[in-house]
Amino acid sequence: MSKFSGFYKLGVEERLKIVKEQCKLSEDEVKTLVNSGALELDKADRVVENVIGSIHLPLGIATNFVINGTEKVIPMAVEEPSVIAAACRAAKQTLPEGFKAEADESIMIGQIQVIQIEDIEMAMKNLEINKIEVLNKASEFMKHVEQYGCGVRDFEAKALETERGQMIILNFDINVGNAQGANMVNTTLEGVAPTIKKLTEGEVKLRIVTNLATKRKVRASAVWKKDIIGKNIIEGVLDAYEFAKVDIHRCSTHNKGIMNGIDAVAMATGNDWRSVEAGAHSYAAIGNYKPLTHYYKNENGDLVGTIELPLAVATVGPALNSNPTANIALKIMDVKSSQELAMTMACVGLANNFAALSALGTVGIQKGHMKLHARNIAAYAGASTSEEIDKVADILAEEKNFNVDRAKEVLEKIRC
Ligand code: MEV
Repeated sequence: MSKFSGFYKLGVEERLKIVKEQCKLSEDEVKTLVNSGALELDKADRVVENVIGSIHLPLGIATNFVINGTEKVIPMAVEEPSVIAAACRAAKQTLPEGFKAEADESIMIGQIQVIQIEDIEMAMKNLEINKIEVLNKASEFMKHVEQYGCGVRDFEAKALETERGQMIILNFDINVGNAQGANMVNTTLEGVAPTIKKLTEGEVKLRIVTNLATKRKVRASAVWKKDIIGKNIIEGVLDAYEFAKVDIHRCSTHNKGIMNGIDAVAMATGNDWRSVEAGAHSYAAIGNYKPLTHYYKNENGDLVGTIELPLAVATVGPALNSNPTANIALKIMDVKSSQELAMTMACVGLANNFAALSALGTVGIQKGHMKLHARNIAAYAGASTSEEIDKVADILAEEKNFNVDRAKEVLEKIRC
């Protein structure tokens, strides 16, 4: 029995108490969470430019996740109601087995563009013959992180015809360990660029990491048993999945539902969610834009869901160091590496997708969604205790009226 069972029924203080105990948080860490992250202005001012404040998002915990046999407590930062509840519900329906997940090594691809090359064939040959020199030069810029298993692994060059003439594009494979890797890769590319210029006798232009991290993919799967979820949901999910496979407008929203979960964990852990988004959607667009998840029925008639996508996420790095809440989130999650973080995120993405499809393919999502929305309206209208919020929300949901003025009226009536 998990220590987190019934977590959603507790008040915030009781939840914090459990998280503190189970995840061994210090008093200071709890204080940081209570103070909405406490990213002090002078710290924020060092992270970005022209700072005037900071903005907060609710941070919740997804429970019921068992990944590769271990229970995981997963912080999610998101402004949308239902996302965390949906992840918890979908994860619960995979128990006791839970999810299986695996991740590639942390290989990022860095690109160098060379233009204005007189003799393309000669340039390509020079790059091939002098491959070791190029790799050695590039490796000089990774010396300080070799102790963490990082380093330049390989590169390949291709000649391209473009509307602005011929170009050579070099793709470097660089192991970035537990970092997101963009800075490491970009520094290395800029460092090796003069060598590339010399060998190609061309003009080196772009030197930049790609967010389509096809060598840093993660895969996860789960089985939703028919005895637990029922045949109706299985058929509903399969029909919804088929719709996404054949229709790009649906597929976009299908993948958005996956990213609801993945981005929320990225935000909670201080990761660059724009690079995660860029990588996910460009990966989905290889060939034809397609769903990042797949569903089929196994020989027992149970539903199998799988997910695969590139995930370049970090458990170390400057963005994390400057964000106290992100560090606490990582501690709560107890992930030891960027691969473990990526595996956890993929499971959450799959769970959110399954939850969305199982609702959409049967009763629709609005009932659950609007109930939570009503709670937000009730709180906004001034309801302050859980009891008040629930009472006002129930009436708004029953009346299907989600107007703040109506919520205020209802609240007044309840109070007198
Ligand atoms: C809403 O944030 C996400 C969904 O639209 C995803 C989907 O349609 O699959 C519910």
